[in-house]
Amino acid sequence: MSIKRYLVTSALPYANGPIHIGHVAGAYLPADIYVRYLRAKGREVIYICGSDEYGTAITETARKLGQTPLEVADRFHAVIRDGFAKLGISFDNFSRTTRPVHTAITQEFFLKLYHQGLLETRTTEQLFDPEVGKFLADRQIRGTCNYCGHLDAAGDQCEKCGKAIDPLELIAPRSALSGAALERRETTHYYFPFEQFQPWLSDYIHSREGWRPQVVGFCQGYFGEGLRARPVTRDLDWGIPVPLPGHEGKVLYVWFDAPIGYISSTKEWAEQSGQPEKWREYWGDHEGTKLVHFIGKDNTIFHALLFPAWCHAHGDYVVATDVPANEFLNLEGQKFSTSRNHAIWLHEVLERWPADYLRYYLATILPETADSDWKWADFKERINSELNDNLGNFAQRTVKFIAQYLDGQVPPLGPLTAADQELLDRTAALAGEVGALLEAYEFKRAIRHLFSLGTAANGYFQQQQPWKLKADRERCGTVLAVCAQVCRALAVCCAPFLPAAAQALWCRLGQSGQVIDQPWDAAAAPLPVGQALPPDPQPIFWKVSDEQIAAEVARLGAPAPEPAMSEPTPATPEPPAAPPAVAAPEGVALVTYEQFRATQLRTATVTAAERIPKADKLLKLQLDVGGQPRQILAGIAPWFEPEALVGQTIIIVANLEPRKLRGEVSEGMLLAATADDVPVLLTTARPVPSGLEVR
Ligand code: 2FM
Ligand code: ZN
Repeated sequence: MSIKRYLVTSALPYANGPIHIGHVAGAYLPADIYVRYLRAKGREVIYICGSDEYGTAITETARKLGQTPLEVADRFHAVIRDGFAKLGISFDNFSRTTRPVHTAITQEFFLKLYHQGLLETRTTEQLFDPEVGKFLADRQIRGTCNYCGHLDAAGDQCEKCGKAIDPLELIAPRSALSGAALERRETTHYYFPFEQFQPWLSDYIHSREGWRPQVVGFCQGYFGEGLRARPVTRDLDWGIPVPLPGHEGKVLYVWFDAPIGYISSTKEWAEQSGQPEKWREYWGDHEGTKLVHFIGKDNTIFHALLFPAWCHAHGDYVVATDVPANEFLNLEGQKFSTSRNHAIWLHEVLERWPADYLRYYLATILPETADSDWKWADFKERINSELNDNLGNFAQRTVKFIAQYLDGQVPPLGPLTAADQELLDRTAALAGEVGALLEAYEFKRAIRHLFSLGTAANGYFQQQQPWKLKADRERCGTVLAVCAQVCRALAVCCAPFLPAAAQALWCRLGQSGQVIDQPWDAAAAPLPVGQALPPDPQPIFWKVSDEQIAAEVARLGAPAPEPAMSEPTPATPEPPAAPPAVAAPEGVALVTYEQFRATQLRTATVTAAERIPKADKLLKLQLDVGGQPRQILAGIAPWFEPEALVGQTIIIVANLEPRKLRGEVSEGMLLAATADDVPVLLTTARPVPSGLEVR
């Protein structure tokens, strides 16, 4: 295969509740690290996801909350999307399976299989709830597992032995809705003849290279049992309608439509990026597209067997090159549990911790080959000793010493000792070595390898003792030039894992632009001699305290935070009499023209800037706004050196009511876009006077 482009997907999360850190470890963080790396390598790559909005999980939640399924999906789509954005998960598109583009692609997919005569109809008995008066979805059924004897298995999958279940084979099935014993009644459905594809699938799986052994083993287990025809339609009122006349009340099975969501999300991406046919290149080039599905292990059958079989049968779409499925992440030695709130909810934990702290710890414990465990005490230990004492300390000492001893300018390399050369050689090799591990989906080893350079560099610093070399400026300069060089490579190679911290390090090296845009293969490119570093560099990380950890542990098992599934949201307000000409993006409330006009935006020139003692995040800015002095506080201290802001023209909200923060008054707010968690100040395209109105 000669790879022309990468199509990377993460499992579409169900929009029936918020997602937790266990989900992130399985399907999202490794994929994000991978695509960020591929982009830095200059490869053509898109990263595709979206929310999975059909299925009985959502109708069940809606029933409990007294809402419609779409209301539930609207709400959690937004919560999940925003959580991912805050964590820095850099999807190229995050779609929804309730969008028309998905309905169209899925119905076309079904019809293509149907018109090939592949889908068989079968009239079978299904489980009917006589109290509720309808056929039940698999998830609405409980009973005794026919594989392992677990007494409370769900009708689609046994939580105990992990096997996919045919609900008709469950022993003593009962209704999860009414508790009634279920009756068998006849209904007709379409089936995909999975068994016909076993020879092709067996060749497919055995011809893959470098697949994780547990994924191959899982598939072989299925081959051993013999694949069986699978229904692709259901008797439900929430789902994509079966696109054939006379099938009212029947929809496509959620596990049929969900993986097709990767295709429809790619099509939506292509339309939105102004190249409407581009999705066909990704999905249609069997030789050139490397399709990689990142998933948790419970999704293996769908991604390694069923979806490839459907795509192969359909004929127009590529099949997965790789399915790096992860095992499960546990929490303090137990499984994550929504019902007991034994969980760390993504949208919530991001309120308390920087995204990079979560990304770092997760990356070091990813369940790549076996289940692993999130332990808050271990989190503290690693953040403090590895992020702070290893990477943070080395970077801080390097830039501080250059500021203090070498006038804040990158010094030239003088004659090199063996120790200098050895560290420079390791630095030069870093990007290649980390890259090779990432291409093999060995994320844990990759981040360990990265940090082992930090350990070596700290050792070098200690050994060379630049603080004793003040009198020998050339040697002192060489040692610190070596260290600065290591910092540069660490910044570039850390960027896929820790985007904000890498950017902060990049800025401290006096570099402009985004570190994520630096070519991977030039990670060890020399820093320009004489490059000025910002004065008074602040540490990139801060340490985690015992109190913070105790508070986290106390949260486990406590009543669920909002947005929880147990409390309904307030009733949806009445729609406006006349719909707006342009629909609001989902999850965004519209403001009226008058409301917008009430906000005064103005240009302002920064005349002075300083840090505020004991307020790590805040800078105090003195501004000139059309001749009037004004003071504002801005939470940008980790990313900007105060001196660098003086003289800049920024945009502020000028009529915000004054607020007191840390004993200082703030009379406005500056505007910034957040790129990879790093604020980028809004300014004007050419110099303009201060005090101008912005419209
Ligand atoms: O297990 C889940 O959360 C599913 N919603 C994953 C779907 S992945 C894909 F098929 F869309
Ligand atoms: Zn079982």
